[in-house]
Amino acid sequence: MAPAPASDVKTSSRTAAHSLARYREEFPIFRDKIYLNTCSLGALGERTRRKLAEFVDLWQSRGASAWYDVWWAALGDLRRRYGSLIGAAPEEIALAPSISVALSAVAEAVDYTRRPRVVVTSLDFPTVAYQWLAKRQRGVEVVVVESPDRVTVPVEAIARAVDHRTALVATSHVYFTSGAIQDIGAVAEVAHAKGALCLIDAYQSVGQVPLAVRATGADCVTAGGLKWLLGGPGIVFLYVREDLARRLAPAIAGWFGHKDQFAFEPRSLEWHDDARRFELGTPSLAAVYAQLGGLEYIEEIGVPAIRAVTTALTEDLVARARDLGLRPKVAPRAEDRSAIVLLPAADPAAAVRWLDAAGIIADARPGHVRLSPFFYNVQEDHVSALERLAAPGA
Ligand SMILES: Cc1ncc(COP(=O)(O)O)c(C=O)c1O
Repeated sequence: MAPAPASDVKTSSRTAAHSLARYREEFPIFRDKIYLNTCSLGALGERTRRKLAEFVDLWQSRGASAWYDVWWAALGDLRRRYGSLIGAAPEEIALAPSISVALSAVAEAVDYTRRPRVVVTSLDFPTVAYQWLAKRQRGVEVVVVESPDRVTVPVEAIARAVDHRTALVATSHVYFTSGAIQDIGAVAEVAHAKGALCLIDAYQSVGQVPLAVRATGADCVTAGGLKWLLGGPGIVFLYVREDLARRLAPAIAGWFGHKDQFAFEPRSLEWHDDARRFELGTPSLAAVYAQLGGLEYIEEIGVPAIRAVTTALTEDLVARARDLGLRPKVAPRAEDRSAIVLLPAADPAAAVRWLDAAGIIADARPGHVRLSPFFYNVQEDHVSALERLAAPGA
C-alpha cells in the first residue's frame, strides 16, 4: 500500500495533528501518559470499557439466561465482524482465546505422514515454531528460514526451503521483530507450488495494515484483539479457507466444534461444516465484549484510513530518529514498513524505564526499544520519545 500523503502529518510543526487525532480523547491513558506501545497491547478506549461494562451488567442482572439470546448472538456478531474486516465469510472464522491455541488447532489438523516438514522464519513470533517443535517426537521437522538482515526474509529463501515433504509454511504478515510487512501472497504461492498449505500469523497486522485474505491465497490466518484491534487479551480469530475448513479434521476438540453441541452426545463427534470445528470450549465473554467495543473504532475509521495516518507517523518517526543518529531498524522501502519501529539500544530495558520515568510507554525487545504509533498518537508523542532517548542520561 502506498504511504500516506506527506500532508497527513505536518512535519513542520512539533504539535501537528492529523484527522484521526480527534479519537485521542476517547483513550484516557493519554491524559497522563504518552502511549507508544500498541504492538504489545492496544490502549483501552471508552467504547471498549462501555462494552465490557455491558457484559458485566448482563451477567449481574440476567445470569445464564443471557446466553440464549444476547451472548450467543454476540459470538455470531464477532465472527461476522472479524470476517468482514479481512474479507472473509463468517463461516470461515473460528474464535479462540489466543494465537497459540488457534495455531495448535490447525497444527493438529494437518497430516504429517508424507509431509513431515513445516517451514517458518527466524523473524516469526516463536509461538509459531513451538507448535511444531512440540511434535518432534512424532517426526515433525521444523525448518527455520533465516533473515539475512534481521528485518525481512526473501521469498526466494522461503521457496528454497519448501519441497514435496513440506506440509505447511507458517509465517507472519507483519514481523513483530522489525515491523516489516511480508508479501504473504508470494509466500502462499511458493507454498502452494509444492502442494503445501500456508498459514499466516497476522496478529501484528490486522487493524493497522489492510488485509484481504482471499486475494492473498493464504489457507489459514490468525489475528485478534490484543494489539491493533483494541480488544485486549483473550480473544482471537482463526480464518480457514472455506473448502479447507470442511476438509480438515482437528485432532483436538471441544463441544463448541460439534455440529450439534446441545445434543450432549458423547458417542460421536460430528464437526461443524465450517471453521467453527476449530473452536474448543466456552469463549471468554468479557474478552468478546471488549473486542466488540474495540472493533467499533476500527470499523468506524476503516483500516485504510488508519494505515494512511500510521504510515505518515511512522515515516516521520523514522526520519527524525535518523536525524538523531538512532539508526531505526526498519524495512528498506517505506511501503514495506508498518507502524512498528525498532531503535537499537545498548540496554533496552533501561531505556524503556528511562522513557517510563517521563510518562512515555514503550517496549523493549532484544537489542532494541520498540515504538508503535497508532491512530490515537500524534507526532508530538514520538518527538517526545525520541528527544528523551537522545537526551543525556538515556
Ligand atoms: C506476532 C505475534 N504472534 C503471536 C503472539 C502471541 O500470541 P498468544 O499469546 O495469543 O499466543 C504475539 C505476541 O503477543 C505476537 O506478536
